[in-house]
Amino acid sequence: MEKGVPMCLVTVLLFALTCSLASASDPSPLQDFCVAINSSTSAVFVNGKFCKDPKIVTVDDFFFSGLQIPGNTANRLGSNVTRVNVDLLPGLNTLGISLARVDIAPYGVNPPHLHPLGTEITMVAEGTLYVGFVTSDPDNRLFTKVLNKGDVFVFPIGHIHFQFNVGKTNAVAFAGFSSQNPGLITIADAVFGSNPPINPDVLTKAFQVDKNVINYLEQQFK
Ligand code: GLV
Ligand code: MN
Repeated sequence: MEKGVPMCLVTVLLFALTCSLASASDPSPLQDFCVAINSSTSAVFVNGKFCKDPKIVTVDDFFFSGLQIPGNTANRLGSNVTRVNVDLLPGLNTLGISLARVDIAPYGVNPPHLHPLGTEITMVAEGTLYVGFVTSDPDNRLFTKVLNKGDVFVFPIGHIHFQFNVGKTNAVAFAGFSSQNPGLITIADAVFGSNPPINPDVLTKAFQVDKNVINYLEQQFK
């Protein structure tokens, strides 16, 4: 075999790997559908979930009912997100898409968070939301907008964003995601409520505040 051939192969493989790593949302499906089946007994794992035998797939694998039901916002944030991802709707597996219902009481907030695996597009169905996201370092530029019924806003993948109800009535929004399960990192929970907690010395230095402030915050997110 010529010396150049393996090198060329390696280059192509590296390129393919780089492309797949740089993909900004779920990979495209390779068949009509791959309805998810939970298998905890296998020694191997796939990127996503195993496919159910298409012969035993039924229409209910592609169906979910209940998003007309308001989420319970009687909590300290005054918000609730009902996520219809692949765990609830197995037909979403490999399709790179999912949906959520966001309920926010007056003055409630869906706190700063990010989705590591998907972009979010939100449409307000009821009420008024002040929404925004922050761009990457070093600019950390904040984009905000007040959204009313029928307004649509997009939060780019992996960016910190929030929704705050600035109206006098309950707000309802529906969010589409470019992932079967976009993932969720809520900033305050991750930083102040990790398990085990991050050493307060780290957070005191990082946030440039007194240790009491960090202790107080860690208590709130326990
Ligand atoms: C809305 O922002 C959500 O994360 O579901
Ligand atoms: Mn979100």
